Amino acid sequence: EFRAIAIDGPAASGKSTVARRLAEDWGMTMVNSGAMYRAVTWEVLRRGINPSATGEVIALLSEVDWGCLVRNGQTVMQVGDVEPTMKQLKADEVNGAVSLIAAIPEVRELLVQKQREFLTKGDLVMEGRDIGTVVFPDTPYKVFVTASEEVRRQRRAAEGAEDAVEERDKLDSQRKASPLRVAEGAVVVDSSELAIDEVVAQVKDELIQ
Ligand code: CDP
Repeated sequence: EFRAIAIDGPAASGKSTVARRLAEDWGMTMVNSGAMYRAVTWEVLRRGINPSATGEVIALLSEVDWGCLVRNGQTVMQVGDVEPTMKQLKADEVNGAVSLIAAIPEVRELLVQKQREFLTKGDLVMEGRDIGTVVFPDTPYKVFVTASEEVRRQRRAAEGAEDAVEERDKLDSQRKASPLRVAEGAVVVDSSELAIDEVVAQVKDELIQ
């Protein structure tokens, strides 16, 4: 029986860093579920499909073999025989369309199934928006990382990304399919005023109890 730690939170909340640190320190596999939504979005754009053309996006799901693995600590998506790089998945155009693609229930169904398969292979830390609410609702280890909108906008800008964080959060929280929510039983950590080490220490404390 393997264990899953679910880390959810809005864009640029610090959840990736927390997830990575927990996974390293506790020898667990870290899975970035956002990379999967980004890979579908990347392929949609690459094919010139309009992200709002839901029917075409759904048709694409069964046209392509979607592989999903973790290699050297990185979540790697295989789109047919192409592996988009992290740089490609983080591109501004993908930032601008990913929340539309992630709002499509059929997309979520496919990716959630792949996310759950990771738990048959070992202990893991998975980060995303619905990990504690939908992917692993029965895990006792749930964390919700948040930060003020101002801090999150600054963090994203410091990374040099063109990313309308507020717009993405709005779409992610207001969509019908698995909206961004604090899962029942989740520990909520506000990282606005904390250094990363303090956030990690606080999360570990709460999870060990
Ligand atoms: O940029 P950031 O790390 O905040 O986002 P991400 O984790 O890479 O996720 C990108 C987008 O994918 C989110 O804005 C959501 O629209 C979607 N997503 C989702 O719907 N469910 C997840 N479990 C993970 C990501």
